Amino acid sequence: MKRIGVLTSGGDGPGLNPCIRAVVRTALSHSLEVMGIRRGYAGLIDGELEPMDARSVGGIIGRGGTILGTARSPEFITPQGQREALRHLNRAGMDGLVVIGGNGSLTGALRLHQQGMAVVGLPGTIDNDLNGTDSSIGVDTTLNTILDAIDKIKDTASSHQRAFLIETMGRNCGYLALMGSIAGGAELVLIPEIETSLEDVAKVLSDAYVRGKAHCIIIVAEGWHPGTQTLAEYLKGRQQELGFEVRTTVLGHVQRGGSPSAYDRIMATRLGAAAVDALYEGVSGVMVGQEGGKTIRTPLEQVITPVNKIRPELYKLQKTMEK
Ligand code: F6P
Repeated sequence: MKRIGVLTSGGDGPGLNPCIRAVVRTALSHSLEVMGIRRGYAGLIDGELEPMDARSVGGIIGRGGTILGTARSPEFITPQGQREALRHLNRAGMDGLVVIGGNGSLTGALRLHQQGMAVVGLPGTIDNDLNGTDSSIGVDTTLNTILDAIDKIKDTASSHQRAFLIETMGRNCGYLALMGSIAGGAELVLIPEIETSLEDVAKVLSDAYVRGKAHCIIIVAEGWHPGTQTLAEYLKGRQQELGFEVRTTVLGHVQRGGSPSAYDRIMATRLGAAAVDALYEGVSGVMVGQEGGKTIRTPLEQVITPVNKIRPELYKLQKTMEK
């Protein structure tokens, strides 16, 4: 093995830069050449490859986003897109590839592996919706961003005696919402994995008001059905009767930015190094994740199968705290 590539793909998140840094520096320690691929699979299809050295990843460990850029690439899903990608990898003399991304990106990594390219994936998604790892790179920092927002909103909610709906990201996974609720002391969490009716939410609001609470914080995962807007309209229609005035804050992409936490930097560095070690050993078609503090390798087929990251005991803990 002489030369490997690295790309970040799909939605960005804090911790991608320390991960790229670890991939590059570990590769150099094995005397491998490294090429950075810009804009994920989209850049690979367009042949946007450039050599990287120890200096090209200097000073990035604390920076949010990804120095390589990222993209969602509908073209790569097609056989023609994958053919172009493989052509550029082969022309550049690439012996292996590290793909850092979420479910869609790792599905792409699996396709390349199935077509003969040596590929190792890394979990880079704030959604934490992958098998084969307790947490993904970026999740810890995002949770801290969510927590900061909850604390601040709680200040204004208490001053005005209001109820707030705070919408978190996570696609179809309620992990960020649940963990944010536990850490932020929310009165209720709404996640896609658990059905909760509009009437149930109204009752929580009215009970909190009667108990004399100064605020009512409800964390809504973006994947919860029927959705934050429907809930907001429903509650606003019953404001007088429920006691609290209702406001909504959608946290949105602020959750994807910012300097990575110590946890994310360390995990990203460990996983980046372990991915290159795996390629160097001749391993392909796996994702390197972290479980129980140890790095583990899981076949990509397994990584991308549907997962429920909601541990019942943690949901129960949140319900106990909702008093
Ligand atoms: O997968 C990460 C994520 O931030 C999801 O939580 C969210 O649903 C989606 O990406 C948003 O995607 P985009 O940045 O393309 O709007």
